[in-house]
Amino acid sequence: MSGSWGRNIRLSIYGESHGAAVGIILDGVKPGIELDMDFIERQMERRAPGRDSISTSRREQDKVQILSGIKDGVTTGTPINCMIRNQDTRSADYSKQKIIFRPSHSDHTGYVKYRGFNDHRGGGHFSGRITAGLVFAGAFAMQILLQESIVIGSHILKLQKTNEKGFLDCKLTPEMLKELGSMEIPVIDKENVKKIEDEIMLAKSKEDSVGGIVETAVMGIEPGIGDPFFHSVESVLSGLLFAIPAVKAVEFGKGFQFADYEGSQINDEPYMCEDDIKYRSNNNGGVLGGITNGMPLVFKVGVKPTASIGKTQNSVDMEKREDVEFRITGRHDPCIAKRIIPVIESVTALALLDMIMEGKKWD
Ligand SMILES: Cc1cc2nc3c(=O)[nH]c(=O)nc-3n(C[C@H](O)[C@H](O)[C@H](O)COP(=O)(O)O)c2cc1C
Repeated sequence: MSGSWGRNIRLSIYGESHGAAVGIILDGVKPGIELDMDFIERQMERRAPGRDSISTSRREQDKVQILSGIKDGVTTGTPINCMIRNQDTRSADYSKQKIIFRPSHSDHTGYVKYRGFNDHRGGGHFSGRITAGLVFAGAFAMQILLQESIVIGSHILKLQKTNEKGFLDCKLTPEMLKELGSMEIPVIDKENVKKIEDEIMLAKSKEDSVGGIVETAVMGIEPGIGDPFFHSVESVLSGLLFAIPAVKAVEFGKGFQFADYEGSQINDEPYMCEDDIKYRSNNNGGVLGGITNGMPLVFKVGVKPTASIGKTQNSVDMEKREDVEFRITGRHDPCIAKRIIPVIESVTALALLDMIMEGKKWD
């Protein structure tokens, strides 16, 4: 089933938004790795709900409980089960969603797929809450990658009228990516923090929501990671990125902009840098033939406006089998672009770790 992923590290994700807990089982990790719990907690905190006025007011501690696979803070090599309990649930808010489907949410498709047995409360297994386990596993993967000097960072490239310059137009450094990781609202131009907050607060005041584009870069990756065709870096990574709820687009390097150029204007030309090969530009976002070329991996993720909004909308009533107007109650994120960033970085780390492990099979 779709709840499992991975060739070398294997993930099994579980839980429902208003069930007892959410979590992840992470298998294939070698013994003897010391967990950096401070880093993991910081990543969990970045994703957690209820931390500010621009996110949902559902307040969860998001404390991880490790049930297996770690002893005295060190991996044992057996499956790691990380559980995060749900505490602040208000299931009554969702009583209508079983029969009246939220527009742009998964209530209809979940109902059809699971023959009406799906747990609809808070979006059930489709909820953004399920990504908490991914962030635990991803933070752990990031920690391992960091030991190989691989650094991941992201910023909000676009949100309504607020735009930033992209990573391909900046002089990227690992320090810059690390600094972005420490910011509440990660942006290159600090003046955009307030603008983004204002845009989200405006949407919230209108009981509406907004989407955004997140851009992510990875520095320090060796050339030669990934495979052609089905396990290309783009295929593996976008497979995981599209697993994140609310992600509707992924673009590598110049992506759709390639249509505006001629090859002579956009080709990434290699040159000799001492004994290494480097590239004069990075329009392909660090991947050629599905394999990393040693340049930073750069991609964008399109996040849709949160489906659950307070405004009156049109839908269908499954019981009466008729069209209805209705309003959604409950607590929701007016914008997901901020909370989704640690999730994007987590799946990036997991995809890369899995591909790096695959590459090591030849050693
Ligand atoms: C961290 C995070 C938080 C989310 N919070 C909400 C929310 O409060 N309300 C909502 O309608 N959707 C929220 N979503 C998105 C929905 O889960 C998602 O739109 C829904 O399952 C339908 O899937 P799709 O948008 O990928 O098609 C969130 C997603 C993430 C990653």
